Amino acid sequence: MKATAVACANIAFVKYWGHADRGSADSAKHLPANPSVSLNLDCLSTTTTVTQVEGSDQDTLTINGIAAGTAARERASRHLDRLRALAGTKGCMRVVSHNNFPTGAGMASSASAFAALTVAAAATLGLSLDERALSSIARLGSGSACRSIPTGFVEWTVEAGEQDSYAHSIAPPEHWGLCDCIAVVSAEHKHVGSIQGHEAAPSSFLHQARVEQAPARVETCRQAILDRDLEALGREMEEDAVAMHAVAMTARPPVYYWTPDTLRIMRAVVEWRAQGLPVYYTIDAGPNVHCLCEQGHRETVEHRLRSLPGVTQVLVACPGREAHLVPDHLD
Ligand code: DP6
Repeated sequence: MKATAVACANIAFVKYWGHADRGSADSAKHLPANPSVSLNLDCLSTTTTVTQVEGSDQDTLTINGIAAGTAARERASRHLDRLRALAGTKGCMRVVSHNNFPTGAGMASSASAFAALTVAAAATLGLSLDERALSSIARLGSGSACRSIPTGFVEWTVEAGEQDSYAHSIAPPEHWGLCDCIAVVSAEHKHVGSIQGHEAAPSSFLHQARVEQAPARVETCRQAILDRDLEALGREMEEDAVAMHAVAMTARPPVYYWTPDTLRIMRAVVEWRAQGLPVYYTIDAGPNVHCLCEQGHRETVEHRLRSLPGVTQVLVACPGREAHLVPDHLD
């Protein structure tokens, strides 16, 4: 059996940063400390083909034509184990994956990767899982992957005391013509993975305050999305991004994802807004800056970002759809 799935990366308006404190196994379960809201990004996607192979004693993983290293292969293999356990089989699998976004631009996304792997592997194993189950399982591979399963604008809820959590769609991609103009910066930075970031978050004196604010922020963002109110969404989004980075920078050990280029773009966005251009920023666990605007302002934002020193390229993404199976296989 063989199946291929495509899943989009997503950008969070309210971030997932830190795990719920419900016992020692929680970080492995990727139960989030706070709810989050995101948008799937149509032109940042991962396509993954999963094939069952006879007589092999190990899963294999190829990413963009290159055999993955041991850590990545083992992480994918552990994820396949979850699906194999559900299907009651043990057979090994060949996983071939391709990201359509430029490699080396710091856009590598575990969200699109684990969402595509979940959907393709479930189909290969003949599992018939609904969206909620797929989202829950994708979360176990990488937390933010649960938000790449449903379509368009997505909310990842967290219920007190629950040992499971998953994401659902707030609105389809065509609901609102938002654009994410991603300013990729040239500055070298030492990458600290989000896994360490989540673990260190509770050591920051700001973490609890951010987590307590998150449900109200999510509520405001959900309503702003339904109302297509960029000002309301943008305000929450910028504040939460800065709060998440403040938590990272005050954690023990501290993590600084921003570079001087990052800060220059943040300041430019605020200045452009003061001049009347409706654009807002957010930043994930890296130095690149996501600038959100409506379709009508996309060219201006793109053009201005390209003119800033330190910006090596600008990628533009529109609202993307749910993770889905496709008929054409990669191998
Ligand atoms: C800053 O989903 O990559 O992008 O669960 O350890 O795989 P793991 O973490 P991951 O964390 C994403 C962090 C973030 C914010 C977000 O996407 O919500």
